[in-house]
Amino acid sequence: MCGIIGYVGNNYAPEILTNSLKKLEYRGYDSTGVALLDTNAKLTIQKSSGTVNNLKKNLEKYDVDSKIGIGHTRWATHGEPNNINAHPHTDCTKKISIVHNGIIENHQEIRNSLEKLGHKFLSQTDSECISHLIENYLDNNDDIEKAIIKTANKIKGANVVLVISNKHPNKIFCFRIGSAGGLIIAHGNDEMLVSSDIPAIIPYASNITYLSSNEIAIISSKKVEYKNIDGISISKKTTTLELNEESISKGEFKHFMLKEIHDQPQSMTDAIGSRVSFIDNKIKFEKFPFTDDEIKQFSKIILIGMGTSLHACMVAKSWFESITKIPTEVDNSSEFRYRDLILNENHLIISISQSGETADTIAAMEKFRPLNPKQITLSNSPKAQTSQIADYTIDIRAGIEIGVASTKTFMCSLTTLYLLSLFMAEKRNSLTKAKMNAKLSELAKLPGIISNMLDNQKQYKIIANKYYNYSNFLYLGRGLNYPLAMEGALKLKEISYIHAEGYPAGEMKHGPIALIDQNMPVVILIPKDKMLDKMLINLNEVKARKGTIIAIATENENYINNLAKDIIFIPKTSDDLTPIIMSIPMQFISYYIALNKECNIDMPRNLAKSVTVE
Ligand code: AGP
Repeated sequence: MCGIIGYVGNNYAPEILTNSLKKLEYRGYDSTGVALLDTNAKLTIQKSSGTVNNLKKNLEKYDVDSKIGIGHTRWATHGEPNNINAHPHTDCTKKISIVHNGIIENHQEIRNSLEKLGHKFLSQTDSECISHLIENYLDNNDDIEKAIIKTANKIKGANVVLVISNKHPNKIFCFRIGSAGGLIIAHGNDEMLVSSDIPAIIPYASNITYLSSNEIAIISSKKVEYKNIDGISISKKTTTLELNEESISKGEFKHFMLKEIHDQPQSMTDAIGSRVSFIDNKIKFEKFPFTDDEIKQFSKIILIGMGTSLHACMVAKSWFESITKIPTEVDNSSEFRYRDLILNENHLIISISQSGETADTIAAMEKFRPLNPKQITLSNSPKAQTSQIADYTIDIRAGIEIGVASTKTFMCSLTTLYLLSLFMAEKRNSLTKAKMNAKLSELAKLPGIISNMLDNQKQYKIIANKYYNYSNFLYLGRGLNYPLAMEGALKLKEISYIHAEGYPAGEMKHGPIALIDQNMPVVILIPKDKMLDKMLINLNEVKARKGTIIAIATENENYINNLAKDIIFIPKTSDDLTPIIMSIPMQFISYYIALNKECNIDMPRNLAKSVTVE
C-alpha cells in the first residue's frame, strides 16, 4: 500500500514526480505530496489531501526549480487522511525529508524517547519517526549514510523508505526492510528514478534493479551504490523492462476496469500460451522444480490467498480434488498464518497473489517454510516478494492490472490453476488420455467464448439501470460456482459500495433466507451443470418469498424461462470451466451498477491494489 517515487536528473522534478504519482495512485489515494530540493538546496514540501490532481494544482502556484525530489501517495494506517499526515515528513530542522511505505511496529516507543529528547512531532503517523530518528543519529560529521543505517536497524516491521537532505542535494537514499511492497530503481540517461512499482517508471527508463530486503541504495543521476543494512557494499543485477506506455493506458475505455475486462481473451490466451501443446495435448511448465516422483508423493495441497485470489483458490480446490485426486484444502492467508499445522515435504502449498506483495500471504508462506512443504506461487508480478519464498513461481501473464478491482488477474489465476491441475494429473496418471484431450479442447475454446461474451453488454446495462438503487444484494451458487457468488458479491461491494453477500446456496435456509423480500435482489448462479436441480430448488424458495431474482443461466436452454424475470445468459461450456466464464457477468454487473452510481470505479474508497500491511 502507498506509492513512493524519487527522481534525480536534469529534468523538471515536480512534473516527473507528479506524473509518476498519478500512475501509482492505485496503491493508495487518500493524500499525496512531494519534497523537492531546488538548485540552492532549499527543501520545499507540498502536500494535498485527495488525489494527485489536487497536488498538481497546488504545485503550479510555486515554480520550484528542482531536479531532485521524492513523492508519495498514501493509504492511511496511522492518522487520518489529511494534509498534516500526508507524506513527505521532515525533521525538526526541516532539512531532511522522507517518504515511507509500511508500518513501524515500534513507532510509539521511538516517538516517546525522541519526544523526551526534545523532538517535536507534527503528525499522527508512524512514518514521522524516521526523519526525527535520522536527525537524532546525525553526528558532528553529519554522516547521513551512517544515520540512515542506524535508523534502518532501529525500526521494526516491514518498511520501505526514501530520504533526501539539503546537505546532499544530489542524492536520494533508500532502504528496504522486509516486504512492505517493492522498490525498483530505474536507470535512465543521466537520470534515475526509484519507485514502488513499474507503471511509474515506464516512460523514463528500461533498465531496472529491484532492491531486496535489508538493502540500501544511494542514488545520484549517474550512478547507484548498493549496500547491505550494515553498510557493506554489494553488487546487484540490472534487468531490462519489456513493457511500454500502451500497457498502462486506458486506451479507448472509460475506466481501467473496463479495459481490463476486455483484455481477458488475450490475457487468457497468453496464460495458456506455450504451456500447452494442442497437437499432442501436453502441458509443460518451464523449469518445474519437482520430479514426477515428488508430484506422485503429494499427499495434500493447501491453497492460500486473500480476496479475489482466495476465490480463485476456492475454485481450484475442486479441480485439484477431482482432476489431480489429491486431498486439497483452502485457507485465507491471514488465518492460515496463525494455524498450528503439521506439514511435511509431501505437502504442497499453492499461494496466489497477483501483486506478489500481500503481507498476509507472504507471512503465511514464510511461517511454514521451516517445515519444508513444497511451495508454488502464482503471481502477475513474478519478481515480487512471494517469488523469493516459493520453490517455483508461475507467471499468470495477465499484463499490468491498474483497476483496484481484480478482473483479468482472476481469470488468469483460474486458467493457470486449471493447467496446473491437469499438468499434475498427467504426472500422477489420475486422468485418462481421452479425458485430458477433452478438457484441453474445451479450454482452447474459452478465449473465443469470452470474446463473444464481451460483445453482449446490453443485458448488464438493463440490470444495472433497474437495480443500482438497491442497498443489499445476495449472491447464491453451488459447487464450482459458489466461489463465484462470493466473487460477484466482493466485486459489487468494492466498486459500488452496495452491501452484498455471497453464499453457498445450500446455506440459504440456515439463515440468509430471513433477509429475502422484494427489496433484496438475489443473483442466482444457475448454469446447466450437475448442480442444476439443487439450484432450481433454491431459486423456487426465493421466488416463493417474493425475492427479486436475477438469474445467470445457460443460453439456449429452457429450464429457466418462466422462473425469473431478469435473466443473464452465458454460453455453455464444461462444468469445470463454467466458473471462468461466470466471472464475466460478475464483473459487468458490478461495473455497470457502479457506473450508474457514479462511483470512482478504478480507485474505490478505502481500498488499495496491493495490501502490503497486515
Ligand atoms: C479484488 O478485487 C481485490 N483487489 C482484493 O480482494 C485482492 O484480490 C486481494 O487484496 C489479494 O491481492 P493479491 O492477489 O495481490 O494478493
